[in-house]
Amino acid sequence: MTTSADQSLWLDQGASTAYPPPAGDLDVDVAVLGGGIAGLTTALLLKRDGARVAVLEARRVGSGVTGCTTAKVSALQQTVLSTIRRRHGDDGAEDYAQASLAAVGLLAGIVAEEGIDCDLERRPAFTYAASEGERSAVEGEHDAARAAGLQVDLVDEIDVPYAVQGAVRLDDQLQLHPVRYVQGLAAAVHGDGSVVHEQTRAVGVEAGAPCRVRTTAGTVTARQVVDAAHYPLLDRGLFFARLEPTRSYCIAARLRGSVPQGMSISAGSTSRSLRSYGDLLIVGGEGHATGASEATPERYARLETFAREHWDVEAVTHRWSAQDPTSWDHLPVIGPYPRSSRLYVASGFQKWGFTGGTLAARIISDLIAGRQSPRAQRFSPSRVGVGGLAKLAQVNAKVGADFVGDRIRPPRPGSADALAPGEGGVVRDGLGKKGVYRDEAGALHAVSLRCTHLGCLVRFNAAERTWDCPCHGSRFDTDGAVLEGPATRPLERRDPA
Ligand SMILES: Cc1cc2nc3c(=O)[nH]c(=O)nc-3n(C[C@H](O)[C@H](O)[C@H](O)COP(=O)(O)OP(=O)(O)OC[C@H]3O[C@@H](n4cnc5c(N)ncnc54)[C@H](O)[C@@H]3O)c2cc1C
Ligand code: FES
Repeated sequence: MTTSADQSLWLDQGASTAYPPPAGDLDVDVAVLGGGIAGLTTALLLKRDGARVAVLEARRVGSGVTGCTTAKVSALQQTVLSTIRRRHGDDGAEDYAQASLAAVGLLAGIVAEEGIDCDLERRPAFTYAASEGERSAVEGEHDAARAAGLQVDLVDEIDVPYAVQGAVRLDDQLQLHPVRYVQGLAAAVHGDGSVVHEQTRAVGVEAGAPCRVRTTAGTVTARQVVDAAHYPLLDRGLFFARLEPTRSYCIAARLRGSVPQGMSISAGSTSRSLRSYGDLLIVGGEGHATGASEATPERYARLETFAREHWDVEAVTHRWSAQDPTSWDHLPVIGPYPRSSRLYVASGFQKWGFTGGTLAARIISDLIAGRQSPRAQRFSPSRVGVGGLAKLAQVNAKVGADFVGDRIRPPRPGSADALAPGEGGVVRDGLGKKGVYRDEAGALHAVSLRCTHLGCLVRFNAAERTWDCPCHGSRFDTDGAVLEGPATRPLERRDPA
């Protein structure tokens, strides 16, 4: 195996943005939390409607999942449409497919209108059967996509150097450089009374007239707040019970010879997602629940083995990993928080947030501007409603069980002396336990295992050397700093001795 940058291809290229935090308190029409595709697209559409908008980003624009994706923009999304059809019928699948297709068009329009240099390319999208066993899933996706009004075809071959057992094809979809795209969105938002503030983490939101967002750099007052921080920060809709984050892994490999032109993904549970960028092949896959013990470096090794089996790989240049939440009913969660007309949320994109985040921007900006938004009800955070309460109760019971179950019980404590450089583990701390990591120089770093969100116990992620929470996906570095929410406070430090 070759050595590669442990960094997203997209975040490794070009300069990052440098928008300063606010100098003091701020008053705007709409505060948008999160500088990923959902937040920045929403901010741009709101600004186009005449609103003064402040985007508050905890780190840097695009540094969240948006910067760690494969960045396909497609209405054909593996087997998502057949899954939605099973749960929500033909109407549900049609709403999702047509909203996704409209998002592909909206994104292409924004790139053209704002002149964003993001290597946007039109490509066909494929969902293929890697084995005979996956063929029925491909046929089911073809049927669901046709019924939903997508111009798909069933084909026998795609441009990969191995046999496939059939594929669904949808032409005229998009691929792009995700970080350049959202940096372009940020540039379009910033100015004329609207602002982007980086290194500004929201730590509390109060709904009211006006709403107040407490941040690490002062208070922002706004008529409306859009929570686009990836995982909902507020628990008003029992979101924590309804959204389950899963991690996936990616590598970029320089090939000798030609790269595939299509954007492909296999239909099975051990999926492989493929696209090219210049002379690089990007391979994604190996998904699992966040905070599970399966987060190991072997995940990357399997993707590299797959690439080397099928292509002449000169070098693996990058490897990275990220997570995205899936809602309990497989539709994204977009719109006003239950019982609020001032707080909005966009989440649950199930690894298809380039369309999901863009369609969220369309819906939320329509609702804030008082326009009709025909599909808003389908994706509403309140859609559980009275009819869905029994289902929600089941989900809550499962999460309640998870809080006390094996999934969050940390492994048996070991000894810090047994940890090799780069390893982390659970070590006894008086009557309790702590998480200890030994860095490459041999120094120990210790933290409390208690997640600062709602108190589940974090686990060591050996693939990325982080502490990850299995309950709602918060992640922390080896000194406890928050890498991903919904947690907003660091893990408590412990004495490593
Ligand atoms: C491996 C992988 C591959 C994927 N491939 C594709 C693909 O090919 N096509 C596709 O459509 N989708 C894909 N996705 C999904 C897609 O990348 C995501 O759905 C999308 O990027 C989510 O965007 P977002 O704006 O919601 O979140 P993010 O990009 O994470 O943005 C949220 C931002 O909020 C910030 N933030 C967090 N907490 C706070 C706070 N308290 N205050 C202020 N800011 C905060 C974060 O720093 C972050 O920048 C993939 C996902 C994964 C994991
Ligand atoms: S992320 Fe919710 S308890 Fe840790």
